[in-house]
Amino acid sequence: MSHVTVSAPGKLMLLGEHAVVYGYACLVTAVNLRVRVTVAPRDDGKVAIATLDLPEPFAASVDNLHGSSSEAPQAVRFVVSALQQFWRETGALTGADIATASDFTQAYGLGSSSAVTAATIKALAEATGRGHALDASDIFRLGFAAVLDVQGGIGSGFDVAAATYGGTLYYAGRGAEIVPLPGPPPPLVVGYSGIKAPTTRLVQHVAALRARRPEAMDAGMRHVDDLVGEAQAALLDGDYAQLGRIMDTNQAWLDTLGVGTAALDKLITAARRAGAYGAKLSGAGGGDCMIALVNDATRPRVERAIAQAGVPGAEVLRVEMGAPGVQVEPL
Ligand code: MEV
Repeated sequence: MSHVTVSAPGKLMLLGEHAVVYGYACLVTAVNLRVRVTVAPRDDGKVAIATLDLPEPFAASVDNLHGSSSEAPQAVRFVVSALQQFWRETGALTGADIATASDFTQAYGLGSSSAVTAATIKALAEATGRGHALDASDIFRLGFAAVLDVQGGIGSGFDVAAATYGGTLYYAGRGAEIVPLPGPPPPLVVGYSGIKAPTTRLVQHVAALRARRPEAMDAGMRHVDDLVGEAQAALLDGDYAQLGRIMDTNQAWLDTLGVGTAALDKLITAARRAGAYGAKLSGAGGGDCMIALVNDATRPRVERAIAQAGVPGAEVLRVEMGAPGVQVEPL
């Protein structure tokens, strides 16, 4: 047993948010902002988790943590939940020193929680000599269970899939279908709206809409599912004009759900006016990021338009898409 550092990428939702919670399809790409988790196993039955969000490492015994993650501070809940899944899966109640670090703030909504969860499980597996026994599908399965546990059952798992597999993925059936898409990822400009999205509240808002009008909502979600299929074909053909139109149509449906904000609207409109093929919010809505599909000629104009749209706190995030999934870092 030795110490191991593993990294996992954040993600950007391309198309299909909210509908994906109900098993419909989405497209997601991994981004080149990563979370790193270092694990060193201990044989004294203790766990210590160091993260920049806590002044002191969180310390507990394996016996105490074995039960529930809810007693752990918010800042380490995903790591604790990942540990519990690992213990349950392997039956090995190994203690550990765990340290996390991240290239990016949680505020962007780029999937730092799912990345830290996938990286923790992989790092535990590698550090305890079980790397060969847990493949990517196991890391996804355990990671998704860990995330659902912390989030009270809310979430589709698309973010855990991006953290685990990387690249650009077609994701459907809450993980039943995870298909890596070949070819280059779409050329996007990413605009942060300056506001952290209340994801859980928005997912609950959509659930309430669906409870009130199940047929209309399911029809809307089936339409989004079709759009995702068309977008996948357009992406593979490199038909960005068509992909941009599909993004705009998806955004129109998200607007009917009421998950947009004035800030996101301003950034999306500015990007379209500056010549983007299409633009939409990315993720739950209510804040976080928007994406605009561009080419080399329109990219600088769209970036300028987002920066100058008059949205306080808004910024262009320079990220690359299609980043590799969870991986062991060299010592
Ligand atoms: C949030 O980034 C995307 C949602 O579809 C929730 C989820 O899929 O877990 C709103």
